[in-house]
Amino acid sequence: MITVLSFNEVRATSAGRIGLAPTMGALHDGHLALFRAARSGSDTVVASIFVNPKQFGPDDDLDRYPRDLERDQTLAESAGVDVLFVPPVGEMYPASPRTQVSLGGLTEHFEGARRPGHFEGVALVVAKLLIGIRPTRAYFGRKDAQQLSVVQQLSDDLSIPVEIVPVSTVREPDGLALSSRNQFLSGDERAAAVALSRGLFAAASEVEGGERDGARLEQLVKQELAGHSSLQVEYVGLADSATASTLAGLTTDTFLAVAARIGKTRLIDNVAFSVGDDSVIVDRGELLTGPSVLEEA
Ligand code: PAF
Repeated sequence: MITVLSFNEVRATSAGRIGLAPTMGALHDGHLALFRAARSGSDTVVASIFVNPKQFGPDDDLDRYPRDLERDQTLAESAGVDVLFVPPVGEMYPASPRTQVSLGGLTEHFEGARRPGHFEGVALVVAKLLIGIRPTRAYFGRKDAQQLSVVQQLSDDLSIPVEIVPVSTVREPDGLALSSRNQFLSGDERAAAVALSRGLFAAASEVEGGERDGARLEQLVKQELAGHSSLQVEYVGLADSATASTLAGLTTDTFLAVAARIGKTRLIDNVAFSVGDDSVIVDRGELLTGPSVLEEA
């Protein structure tokens, strides 16, 4: 694996089918799942690490965001990355960009409503990565379900010739979705945090039993969260996977999303549903079976 700092170097060192996995570093098993998925479908696997200032609001945790390049390099190499792109801010934004990506109704609800400007910042940097690196496929985690809707829409609208590949959420054995922010949780907060996935799993089981009503599913998640006074719920809601608009009941491709604050840390999670005429496929994510890379580090 080589580490490079410029778009020119990425293009000079990548050949054949390029699989790109964009990240902000602080790698965990969820990122490694992106790299492994890219490995199996590509000749060159490119991973980027860039803590993108344009997607952090004034009250977000940009300064607190964990950074550890040496550790990330070891993990990326172990998961099959060929080219690690770590652009300095001046490479990504040589001048303050005037071009903005406007996402219309895609950002009206859920994360978009709570984090003004966040997805416009994500869309700008992802557009730059897709155009500058020209991957055949680009891999994004389902945990950021609304981000996935945004990235798919962006590549369709701008006719960027790339296949966007969703990768299932990776979870701790008790169900907590992996996130770089989990390391901020105290012992008590960590114990409460598992309520997010418990609530979502309870709702997913009802869906498998035939439930399609959004209010009922949301209620199940809220019930689980209500048992923990340290959790401040921001939203629980059912969304259309393509448009990230709110839904009253399950349609073809839907996700059930939750966001909550625990102390200073904000966590999000979701489960995804693909509903056919008389069947439903539920993507709850994958539980880690072995030790996580965080425990090994
Ligand atoms: O999901 C993330 O880590 C970021 O939003 C991304 C896609 C790397 C863009 O900065």
